[in-house]
Amino acid sequence: MDLKNRDLITIDDLTNGEIEALFTLTDEMSDKMPAQYGLCHGKVMATIFFEPSTRTRLSFESAMLRLGGGVISVSDPKSTSFSKGESIADMARIVSAYADIIVLRHPWEGAAKLMADYATVPVINAGDGGHQHPTQTLCDLYTLKKERGDIKGMTIALWGDLKYGRTTHSLIFALAKFGATILFCPSPGLEVPENILHKLVTEYGGELEKFGKNHKVNQTGAFTVDAAYITPEQPHQLAMMPGIDLEVAMKAGVDALYVTRPQRERFTNEEKAADLQFPIVDKKLMSGKELQRALVMHPLPRVDELAYDMDADPRSMYFKQAARGVPVRMALIALTLGAKEVAAPVETVVPKVDYPIYKREYGVKCSNPRCVTWQETEKNYLKPEFKIVSLHPLTFRCIYCEHGTEPKFVASTEWHQGLTESKRYNRANSHLSKKIKSENLIAFDSAEEAEKHGYKAGHYVKSQVVEVSPNE
Ligand code: NCD
Repeated sequence: MDLKNRDLITIDDLTNGEIEALFTLTDEMSDKMPAQYGLCHGKVMATIFFEPSTRTRLSFESAMLRLGGGVISVSDPKSTSFSKGESIADMARIVSAYADIIVLRHPWEGAAKLMADYATVPVINAGDGGHQHPTQTLCDLYTLKKERGDIKGMTIALWGDLKYGRTTHSLIFALAKFGATILFCPSPGLEVPENILHKLVTEYGGELEKFGKNHKVNQTGAFTVDAAYITPEQPHQLAMMPGIDLEVAMKAGVDALYVTRPQRERFTNEEKAADLQFPIVDKKLMSGKELQRALVMHPLPRVDELAYDMDADPRSMYFKQAARGVPVRMALIALTLGAKEVAAPVETVVPKVDYPIYKREYGVKCSNPRCVTWQETEKNYLKPEFKIVSLHPLTFRCIYCEHGTEPKFVASTEWHQGLTESKRYNRANSHLSKKIKSENLIAFDSAEEAEKHGYKAGHYVKSQVVEVSPNE
């Protein structure tokens, strides 16, 4: 397999076979740490961390030093030209001249992809806002495999802040592609965003069932599940039946409980003001029948959601997860810099969906204000770009932050064929929109936006007709 010069932005960038091969190298490296010194001699890694970090930055830097390479680092945005308003594109070009590999942590969602688009050296995403954190996922998967073997068929419960916890976002897709069952146990109000669930079901197949609030699966009611995802390789029957009985489905018990802290730094003002509850994982919860065998995992740092009374428990994995960050990242750096090669095992290919791309300079903005496309420093050169994930209903996915956007109005290049007087826009949910081919599509967030660009309201704006019979 060849990871040489490849970026790692989301966990989708790696196939199962590549992840397995990376873990084979991780095993080899952790068995013979001192022997790896010199593999990356003469290479330089830049770690750019514009958000706080202990584990990720230090383990990346330790990994590079153990490979015999050098490290240059910035961890305070105020100490860089970022604070003078320098764009990510320019920073990417500059740092590419100083380093052979860039590791970026940034508060803006999609920042790592943007950096990779302009850098001439590989870029590794060490966390971009609430979007993804693929190398943490590698540490999590490696721990699951080391402790329990094959991930296929495991039941993993995700606990805590599933809305902003980027580690859970990468992990969800990784678990799906390795064939695990996922139980979603969010703190109320911090459920998994819709765009992630949509991608999970449309691209990874499988069944998702939502149970609604406070679906208790144990006697004390401390363990609640709001949704479950079952991968396609497994019998679907339970998931497809309305009112699935999780107690029955979980007879075999949960294999791991993955806990995340409330990501308060990303909360909206309403979320900060609301009295959100964060149920605690402690010895008492873990004494439940369904959690008896469960590994306790956490990307760390913990705040109050994971009690210290779990630290001596043999099921607790969080310090091991963090320690494994060094050999996992050593393997990743060595492969990315071409210092090592390993044979990838036979692929379990997750088919990649090739969506048509929507790229016009106007009309639609990403719905996520935390997206890199919204930022002042980037707007002079960066235009929103989307995958058209569905034409009916019209749904776009931002190529940077992956949030969904549903434009309200549409036009077609075919309709007006260059004639200004016939430039019409209609509602995106009218039957007329169904006739538009993706390559002819023009989309607008609002009627004002359409009119600003010289389009006049069509029949299905005025009458607000939504659907008509198929033979019309
Ligand atoms: C996580 C992160 O930064 O997303 N930490 C880590 O990298 N191990 C989790 C967190 O901050 O809660």
